[in-house]
Amino acid sequence: MMRIIITGGDGQLGRELGQIFKKEGHTVFQYSKQQLDITDRGQIREILKRIEPEIIINTAAFTKVDLCETELEKAYLINGIGPYYLATEAKERNVKLFHISTDYVFKGDKLFPYEEEDTPHPKTIYGKSKRLGEELALIACENTTIIRTSWLYGHGGQNFVNTIKELSNQLSEIRVVDDQYGCPTYTKDLGIVIKELITRPPGIYHVTNSGSCSWFEFATEIIKLLKKQTKIIPIPTKEYGLKTPRPLYSVLSNKKLNNFDIKTRNWKEALQEYLKKECVDRNEN
Ligand SMILES: NC(=O)c1ccc[n+]([C@@H]2O[C@H](COP(=O)([O-])OP(=O)(O)OC[C@H]3O[C@@H](n4cnc5c(N)ncnc54)[C@H](OP(=O)(O)O)[C@@H]3O)[C@@H](O)[C@H]2O)c1
Repeated sequence: MMRIIITGGDGQLGRELGQIFKKEGHTVFQYSKQQLDITDRGQIREILKRIEPEIIINTAAFTKVDLCETELEKAYLINGIGPYYLATEAKERNVKLFHISTDYVFKGDKLFPYEEEDTPHPKTIYGKSKRLGEELALIACENTTIIRTSWLYGHGGQNFVNTIKELSNQLSEIRVVDDQYGCPTYTKDLGIVIKELITRPPGIYHVTNSGSCSWFEFATEIIKLLKKQTKIIPIPTKEYGLKTPRPLYSVLSNKKLNNFDIKTRNWKEALQEYLKKECVDRNEN
């Protein structure tokens, strides 16, 4: 059994990972931003000295894509420098670092899934700051595993599934873009793979549910599973008027993962389980 620190422990992925690793019998130290601020190097050092973990999993991030465009310094500090501090301290103490990253490190102009070897070319401050975090963590600590995921949703999180669910209670029609493609990923499924990767070689891994879809198809499936009458109307990105550009195509290939014999289920199956659990937990069934 291992001693594991989880940063960003109040976030949707942090919470899920806490549950998964505790259930496995590991000793989990799940820290919220208030308990462990990854931009405070002294605090990281003090906690690592006291806890003596074998593993750090960094889920902490500034994830608000639009806000990153105006709060650049905060974005680079949390998404870039924070992972560097964690990696240098991990290296110093011979600790394994798992750092979560994103499909937004890619430009989004490919027509088939991005592999780990593809050259990142982020277009947004969020993507650039996350790429910086990847590079600094890999440079500072060779025992770093970078896990890139996409379109994440988990219980209690602010995510697309919960947004569509809430909107469907208020509106009869919802306009959703149909020309951006990616792969929705349930935090539970990502967490199970992270558990598997603990014993694999460090490096970069792409981890998503399998398959892909547009936001329109994703929203349509959510409404179908919720058995709602809300109409989902497909619109092009340019009509939606987003402040910050999103990659048009950011599907990640799980080929490397599959080569290690690790498979993930299709996004529709994962979504069904998620919504079932959400509705039961909230007594909506
Ligand atoms: N959400 C997605 O669609 C998505 C897609 C691809 C990759 N990812 C990546 O997946 C990881 C987990 O994302 P998530 O969806 O679980 O995000 P989340 O729910 O926003 O959780 C991130 C957590 O980090 C905390 N945090 C912010 N600044 C911090 C700091 N300086 N020190 C410590 N904690 C800090 C946040 O606290 P506050 O909320 O109080 O600021 C929040 O609790 C992130 O690395 C993200 O970039 C997410």
